[in-house]
Amino acid sequence: VQSLKGRDFLSNLDLSPEEYRAVLDTAHAMKRGEFKGQRPLEGQTLAMIFEKPSLRTRTTFEVAMNQLGGHAVNLTNAEIGLGTREPVRDIALNLERWVEGIMARVYLHSTLEELARYSSKPVINGLSDLLHPVQLMADYQTIEESFPDTRGLRVAYIGDGNNMANAHIQCAVLSGAKLTIATPRGYEPNAVILLDALQRGADITLTHDPLEAAQGAQVLYTDVWVSMGQEQEASQRRKIKDFAGFQVTPAMLDLIAPEGIFLHCLPAHYGEEVVEEATLHPKSRVFDQAENRLHAQKALLYHLLG
Ligand code: CP
Ligand code: NVA
Repeated sequence: VQSLKGRDFLSNLDLSPEEYRAVLDTAHAMKRGEFKGQRPLEGQTLAMIFEKPSLRTRTTFEVAMNQLGGHAVNLTNAEIGLGTREPVRDIALNLERWVEGIMARVYLHSTLEELARYSSKPVINGLSDLLHPVQLMADYQTIEESFPDTRGLRVAYIGDGNNMANAHIQCAVLSGAKLTIATPRGYEPNAVILLDALQRGADITLTHDPLEAAQGAQVLYTDVWVSMGQEQEASQRRKIKDFAGFQVTPAMLDLIAPEGIFLHCLPAHYGEEVVEEATLHPKSRVFDQAENRLHAQKALLYHLLG
């Protein structure tokens, strides 16, 4: 595997299958403590830009940088005003003079592309309207803890065809998993991303029947029905009505394989896409998954900045 140093990570498909494997192997090694006492990012700084709220992404990137010997500086949009106080281009052309990497959580994916175009330092997608690729690295680390070989593994994503669904589609190319996506009509994932993944040989099925997707699945995944930035009250209520039958409950977890696991990127909107009894169910791995955000991002930072 060639060095990943200096590369952007806007989507999972910015990695080749071999590079994806290398990052996940490092993530597992990070979790085993194999890098303890090493400071591969000594003196390096990651700028973190947040246009939207965050618990996991904010905390794990900062802790990751600290544990690797570097540090992170947090920039909220209220302070820096992406595209309002100054152009995105100028922000990139400033930050690249001071820091070794930029992680950004943005509304529009095109904002990330603009940051990456003007910054000579790596830009990492911390969630956009289109994709959430760092989440998927932690998700597949978690999946591999239960199922070391993901080729042909039955992964079911149930819910909104949003940034998480799109990222799952791209990761199906890399993991070789057999992905089924169940959404209500009108909430299907991005067609361009889907066609691209199919052309790359991914095994992906779309359905509108959540129970068909869940039946026998080894991994059941869901995410919120109303994503950050979509909270307008009327559309929120309409959506929740359209998603009747898509809620993950203990009864739905009974349908998945006996050794199957339940994942959710969190935050959960309890009473909508999931009930508390599912998150706390013996098949749930959602808090391991949250822990793995740290290990997977340490691995990613190690490869992109180290
Ligand atoms: N899953 C996730 O990205 O969580 P945050 O929104 O809290 O960062
Ligand atoms: N689809 C959700 C994911 C949150 C981690 C959102 O974009 O708000």
